[in-house]
Amino acid sequence: MSEIRPAIPEAAKIPTSDYVIIGGTGDLSLRKIFPALFQRFLAGQIDDGFRLVVAARQKMSVAEYADKLRPFCHLDTAADQSSFAEFMQLVSIMPLDVVAGDGAEALAEFISAKQDDARPVIYYLAISPALFGAACQLLDKHGLVTPSARLVVEKPLGHDSASAGDLNDQLLAVFSEDNIYRIDHYLGKETVQNLMALRFANTIFETQWNNTFIDHVQITVAESVGLEGRAAYYDRYGAMRDMIQNHLMQLLCLVAMEPPAQFKANQVRDEKLRVLRALRPFDVSNLSDHLVIGQYGGGDDDPSYEEALGQSSKTETFVALKLFIENWRWAGVPFYMRTGKKLQHRASEIVITFKKPSHNVFANGATDHESEPNRLIIRLQPQEGLRLQLISKQPGPGGMRLFPSELNLSFDETFKERLPDAYERLLMDVARGNQTLFMRHDEVMAAWQFMDPIISAAADVAPDIYPSGSMGPEAQAKLFGAHQASWIDPISENEE
Ligand code: BG6
Repeated sequence: MSEIRPAIPEAAKIPTSDYVIIGGTGDLSLRKIFPALFQRFLAGQIDDGFRLVVAARQKMSVAEYADKLRPFCHLDTAADQSSFAEFMQLVSIMPLDVVAGDGAEALAEFISAKQDDARPVIYYLAISPALFGAACQLLDKHGLVTPSARLVVEKPLGHDSASAGDLNDQLLAVFSEDNIYRIDHYLGKETVQNLMALRFANTIFETQWNNTFIDHVQITVAESVGLEGRAAYYDRYGAMRDMIQNHLMQLLCLVAMEPPAQFKANQVRDEKLRVLRALRPFDVSNLSDHLVIGQYGGGDDDPSYEEALGQSSKTETFVALKLFIENWRWAGVPFYMRTGKKLQHRASEIVITFKKPSHNVFANGATDHESEPNRLIIRLQPQEGLRLQLISKQPGPGGMRLFPSELNLSFDETFKERLPDAYERLLMDVARGNQTLFMRHDEVMAAWQFMDPIISAAADVAPDIYPSGSMGPEAQAKLFGAHQASWIDPISENEE
């Protein structure tokens, strides 16, 4: 093994494990799972005791797999190339057909050769959820569901609450909840975790974090990409199921949850669940007051959603909605959330807008800026950081001239190190047995139960067509109604 890989701090160490990626030749493995494992190998968290198994129907050699994987691993230097070659020595390719069962015996033999309760064996189902049940049964039949076995699954976890319930029953028939790791990759993002640090490791904001001081919250997750070769999946799911039910709901929970007594998996997840259960159900008879859906219409040389899909469709590629959390802390505070594809640029931000001062001592002042509220802007990606917008006095003579100023904490500039991809953190947490950043079944169900009636009511609504490259349909402004506020567009990378 390479001499140049760093020694890692004790706290970052994970037990020597086997990662078995079922469906390991697919897109998710090549784009996300294996590049993340490679990064953790470079960081020294994965060493030569680990075994990484690509279990898949498609047969190929390790060398062929390396050729497929290489472009996703950003091997810029000769040292990277040689580390990659070392990393590939940990990889075994094992044929496996989860339906017919072919290959399961050989896999069982391979795993049991190093069977040890202290050695986690992680089965990551990077296959269609329709095969999750069959895969779990097969693992069980071959004695692979041992105390050290862990199951990792990822969305789509159902299409609605009924199908999510069915899917979960299939997992729970074989694995216990304590050994199921449901990934929402937004929870693995550094800035999303930082949101918890910001709230619960500081007093400055938490004392203001309620309906006495906060006017409203906005969450925008804007994407510039379109269908990206996932037409069949996307057209069935749409933005509501693809993004709102999971990623945006999780962000909402982290903004709104009560402080857990301890930063432990079930305590954090209990608090998130309380938020989901406190959401005010939508008045579906008045849908347009709470929800706007859109579909991208293309632009100059850019095809519309329907053109890209090759057929007509009512699937939404944009959703904006207004939510209320009915509890003591948040009563009356609107949460506006939106997400969409083919928007102006890729940028995700959470904006907390505070109430204005109760009395304006600068009335008759020289500028209008005294009426600007303070805002805390949590920039999730790209260019992660925090900005606090304040009102200050313009230096120099000329009376009390006020202007908006900003305290800016850019993580790029402050930490000057690469922020790990979400999958890196999450894959290491599975080996550690830490479920804090994974969704528990009841959270998934509560999010679906809230979304089910909205999704069915929206099925009758034709999406507003918006130009690609815009920030979505104009109708989204109507969600503010009489509230004196408007959408705050995230700034693009170039503006910073
Ligand atoms: C995925 C969605 O879960 O998240 C995609 O299925 C979306 O449609 C992606 O593009 C966004 O993730 P990120 O990390 O690029 O913000």
